[in-house]
Amino acid sequence: MVTQFPIERFRDIRTPFYYYDINLLQATLASVNKAADAPAFRVHYAVKANVNPVILREILSAGFGADTVSGGEIKAALEAGFKAENIVFAGVGKSDEEIEYALREGIGCFNVESEAELEVIEEIAKRESKCAVVALRVNPNIDAHTHHYITTGLTENKFGIDMALLAPLIKRCVESPYIHFKGLHFHIGSQITDLEPYKILCERINDLINEYEAQGIEFESINVGGGLGIDYDSPDENPIPDFNAYFDVFKKYLKVRPGQEVHFELGRSIVAQCGSLITKVLYVKNGLSKRFVIVDGGFTDLIRPALYQAHHKIENITSESDNIETYDVVGPICESSDCFGVDEKLKETHRGDLIALRSAGAYGEIMASQYNCRSLPASYFG
Ligand code: LLP
Repeated sequence: MVTQFPIERFRDIRTPFYYYDINLLQATLASVNKAADAPAFRVHYAVKANVNPVILREILSAGFGADTVSGGEIKAALEAGFKAENIVFAGVGKSDEEIEYALREGIGCFNVESEAELEVIEEIAKRESKCAVVALRVNPNIDAHTHHYITTGLTENKFGIDMALLAPLIKRCVESPYIHFKGLHFHIGSQITDLEPYKILCERINDLINEYEAQGIEFESINVGGGLGIDYDSPDENPIPDFNAYFDVFKKYLKVRPGQEVHFELGRSIVAQCGSLITKVLYVKNGLSKRFVIVDGGFTDLIRPALYQAHHKIENITSESDNIETYDVVGPICESSDCFGVDEKLKETHRGDLIALRSAGAYGEIMASQYNCRSLPASYFG
């Protein structure tokens, strides 16, 4: 399924902007639903990847829940039509106001990351005469073999509760009249392309379930987080991640108890490939040893290359030349990190050409900023 860019339509639109291929998004959602067909499996979309209302609506109609990390994300999910009970709320730094808001709205679960947070949630629930549904986020100390900025499941990371510190917190949850204890939550990192860490995660979870079951504690739900990676190099060859292989790991290795639910929180793998940042060439600048293509989109529109040394495939979508040339593709922002690609092979490029930065549907538009007093990019759909 290759994204076709409606070039003629693009000519009238102010650049840079995001373009989303809704057919591809729908095909991706169908593929997730097909692969996650086990009765215990529930998929939540990690709203942080892209909160565009059009995208949220598609995801809602495919039957997904929402995984959120702030009051703002909860609001966006509710406004898009997600039911409160299908929204989970994670994050290491939930503010009192966010906890109050989430409790008032009756969200499905707080994924709690520390004892200090648990105390505050309990206190607020007591004050509001409510019962907070809680899962404890466990740090399983697993190396997800991904970029160190987006690995989360190691002891050195700020996320989750160390397994050794878990027992008294579970006890507290089970005994508190203001808490409904739901189960355990895990998330080991993002852009994970080797499935082995997920197998290790299943084994870790099985051990924990056995250990606590022996003490009479049962978990209604196990949330295994998200993190499945995508192919940034070849978006047209691999537009839809291998969801079968991913869900099969959990079907095969996770020992699900009768009546237990298994929750997934996928973000990137659902929305990344359907989005591209479309930007226009302002200048082709010849240096002594380099040729720069200067585009009107910068790291304010797509920050992943500057922040994580990520590479998005770059294509000149309007050049009709057969010549392939080498360029550095850079943005207009006054920082050297505003660079999308070094020594890129592009069709011969001229001022006014349109460039697509592919696989930008996840952590693209939502991470845009207004640095240098720039406008936020608009979005269009096809
Ligand atoms: N669940 C939790 C608790 C998370 O922290 C995340 C992502 C997800 C689920 C969804 O992960 P995904 O399926 O999208 O990998 N801005 C970075 C990625 C940050 C991921 C943060 N947490 C990037 O552009 O690569």
